[in-house]
Amino acid sequence: MASAVLQSTELTESQFGEIRALVKNTCGISLGDEKMQLVKARLNKRLRKLSLADYDEYINFLRRDRTGNELTAMLDAISTNLTSFFREADHFDYLEQGILKRKIAEAANEKSPKRLRVWSAGCSSGEEPYSIAIVACSSVPNLKSWDAAVLATDLSTRMLERATNGVYSAERVKTVNPQLRSRYFECIQTRPDRLYRVNNTLRSFVHFSRLNLMGDWPMRGPFDVIFCRNVMIYFDKATQTRLVERFWELLAPRGTLFIGHSESLTSLKHRFKYVQPTVYEKAA
Ligand SMILES: C[S@@+](CC[C@H](N)C(=O)[O-])C[C@H]1O[C@@H](n2cnc3c(N)ncnc32)[C@H](O)[C@@H]1O
Repeated sequence: MASAVLQSTELTESQFGEIRALVKNTCGISLGDEKMQLVKARLNKRLRKLSLADYDEYINFLRRDRTGNELTAMLDAISTNLTSFFREADHFDYLEQGILKRKIAEAANEKSPKRLRVWSAGCSSGEEPYSIAIVACSSVPNLKSWDAAVLATDLSTRMLERATNGVYSAERVKTVNPQLRSRYFECIQTRPDRLYRVNNTLRSFVHFSRLNLMGDWPMRGPFDVIFCRNVMIYFDKATQTRLVERFWELLAPRGTLFIGHSESLTSLKHRFKYVQPTVYEKAA
């Protein structure tokens, strides 16, 4: 209870082991030994907030908490949420030039319905799904007449709240082309700092939901595109393999999977066709 002591609450290796197992079992994230200090720094804040004296008390509290709220708060504190608009820009070029062009041509020939489903799996604070929606809105003529939706999911309730708000600083929207920025964002504050909010056109295509990739997936698909970028990097090989297989199942024939630039499926057993680095297709 003494807050002075809590500033530097020690985390022993066995306590770290227990937290690590809990994190791995619930959300698939594998915390290496080198993450011990980071976990300690981030969870110290939780201990302080809950007025708990040490990590044994914290672990007991986690185990007893039937609401699951503390587990959510712990995962929020531990996970890495780095993201940006149009991050890894070549994926968005491929989305426009490779995928949407084909879908538009197919729809024009009436070979297929005007249907587009994209999933941003691990969407963090929303920059990725909104970038996808910007590309779709700006490149598909009359997208409103399509049955089009971007599903955006994440484990972190804190990030999903930000994503749903859709309000970003001038610094964050810097990576959006100025023409697109003026078309899809409104400036809602100029002082002391400029703030931008995604407009209703964009919002109408993006649906946010909390989803743990390790759990059940309520959606049926099929998806034309799945973005799961910079998420699997925190999972071990067995977890990655299972996840990639589940993505394959949920994709439509010729559906595309994008993964992060520091990720690869090379060492995993999978059924995808390699298109280019970090881009994979489900063979028709
Ligand atoms: C580094 S961010 C990547 C954001 C975005 N995809 C990008 O590339 O810019 C990783 C996100 O994955 C989420 N995440 C980690 N484990 C998850 C899980 N088991 N289920 C759902 N989301 C998870 C984290 O909460 C975090 O927001």
